[in-house]
Amino acid sequence: MTRTGISVKRITAWRRRPWAGYAVVLAALAAIGVVYAGFSPRSDRAEAQSSAQAAQDLKHGQQLFNKNCASCHGLNAEGTKDAKGNPIAPSLIGVGAASVDFQVSTGRMPAMNPGAQIPRKEPIPDFNTSIKTDFEEPEKREAAEKQKAQAEKNLADLRAWIASLGGGPEVPPASAVDPDKGDVALGGKLFRTNCAQCHNFTGQGGALTGGKYAPPLSGDDVTPTQMYEAMLTGPQAMPVFNDTTLTPQDKQAIISYLVKTREEPNPGGNGLGRIGPVSEGLAGWLIGIGLLVLAAMWITAKKPKKLKKS
Ligand code: HEC
Ligand code: HEC
Repeated sequence: MTRTGISVKRITAWRRRPWAGYAVVLAALAAIGVVYAGFSPRSDRAEAQSSAQAAQDLKHGQQLFNKNCASCHGLNAEGTKDAKGNPIAPSLIGVGAASVDFQVSTGRMPAMNPGAQIPRKEPIPDFNTSIKTDFEEPEKREAAEKQKAQAEKNLADLRAWIASLGGGPEVPPASAVDPDKGDVALGGKLFRTNCAQCHNFTGQGGALTGGKYAPPLSGDDVTPTQMYEAMLTGPQAMPVFNDTTLTPQDKQAIISYLVKTREEPNPGGNGLGRIGPVSEGLAGWLIGIGLLVLAAMWITAKKPKKLKKS
């Protein structure tokens, strides 16, 4: 008999012993435990370390706030008024991380000059998370990536400090804003009923009263996260769409619709305002059926007698 034959026999004999099943289960549990411990985020020691780190991050966030925001919003983010008691800038207590993220990542804050509307602009360097990093030269690319990572850290610390003053909506997790996960058809429907009256049917934006406007949503610069945050926080003249009005799934569907119609190449021709395949199909159907009906009427119509051959 070969060696392998012997060892297989031995294993089989071993397996038949009454305790073998328990041993296997225990070994599997232990293995899972080891793997899980490896993956689970923190042990007690790490927890103590991370809470010290969190305190430091909050302090850093407050320093950034004092430098960039306190002149308008007040040292404790309580808001400020001018000599006549008119508000200069609102209190940020309770606005939440999502509002801060939206306002700062779109460059609206820190505001520069007062106007009817505070426009989107390139964020200041401290918070420029959308900085270009795709340079050919490795040194340039590394420097830009470092700057971007620092901006992300700055923004996270600033958000955390303002959120620590009084809660408010959080920044949505990446999975909630993944444009590949939403229902595009539902999103189109929800967009037309909730957003199109201001942003236009194709998201190209439109004027509102008093010198205000709803900006276009069709450009690459508006990120899925910013879309979610805009709905959640309702900046300036835009209403808030809380989770009862539009559930997180509804919001994701709208995001998918906006991102997917942006990617879709315009097929050219007379686009019917790109209101989507349903209405275009419907128009084709109605015109087609209309022509068929006319043709049927023409074919079946009685020929007038005078045209008959005599
Ligand atoms: C020049 C003054 C000015 C500066 C500087 C400024 N803000 Fe503002 N901020 C405003 C005004 C005015 C509004 C109100 C805009 C509106 O709703 O019309 C506002 C609104 C906001 C809002 C929206 C509040 C809400 O109700 O959702 C947030 C968040 C915010 N600011 C954060 C910041 C942060 C963070 C900074 C610093 C990075 C900053 N701001 C710097 C003037 C300023
Ligand atoms: C009553 C009009 C109105 C409605 C309805 C409305 N918006 Fe807005 N929206 C605005 C205005 C005004 C702004 C600009 C606010 C600002 O600059 O602070 C805006 C800004 C935005 C932005 C930020 C764009 C940028 O350039 O940073 C997004 C994204 C957005 N809206 C999405 C939506 C979606 C999605 C809906 C529907 C669920 C919607 N809006 C409904 C008026 C509206």
